[in-house]
Amino acid sequence: MSSRSPACQSFSTMANEHRELTDLFTKLTEAVLRDGQGKGPVEELIEVIADRIQTHFQHEENGGYFTAIIERAPRLMSRAEQLVEQHASILEQVEMLRILVRSGVESPAWWNRIRSDLNALQLVLSQHERAEEELVKEAFGGEHAAR
Ligand SMILES: [Fe+2]
Ligand SMILES: [Fe+2]
Repeated sequence: MSSRSPACQSFSTMANEHRELTDLFTKLTEAVLRDGQGKGPVEELIEVIADRIQTHFQHEENGGYFTAIIERAPRLMSRAEQLVEQHASILEQVEMLRILVRSGVESPAWWNRIRSDLNALQLVLSQHERAEEELVKEAFGGEHAAR
């Protein structure tokens, strides 16, 4: 059983971080829906998310799934590269949302904007994470299925 191989460990780290990010986004969505409580909780959560996403992308790029996939399945290299390149634009989207939350003055229009930017970010990120998990499945089959 190769469950302790570096590749397998990096995939399980990836899956755990994906789950953690999903949970944080669920909390952020809930905080945005409770707009009556003010932007304080939203501000705190977006700071945490910005930090975790950055760490997550660094893990993926440095010794994470990227290396493992191109070693195991070089044919998937360009798809893996595209996903890694997408990190910069996702980080930019997170940063824009963070700035909007921090600097904005609460109003119905401002909350609407937060909601729509958050939805857009969640969509891009969930598609990105799903594509990564698909890539791992394609490269390793069920060998490293996310648990
Ligand atoms: Fe990624
Ligand atoms: Fe990821």
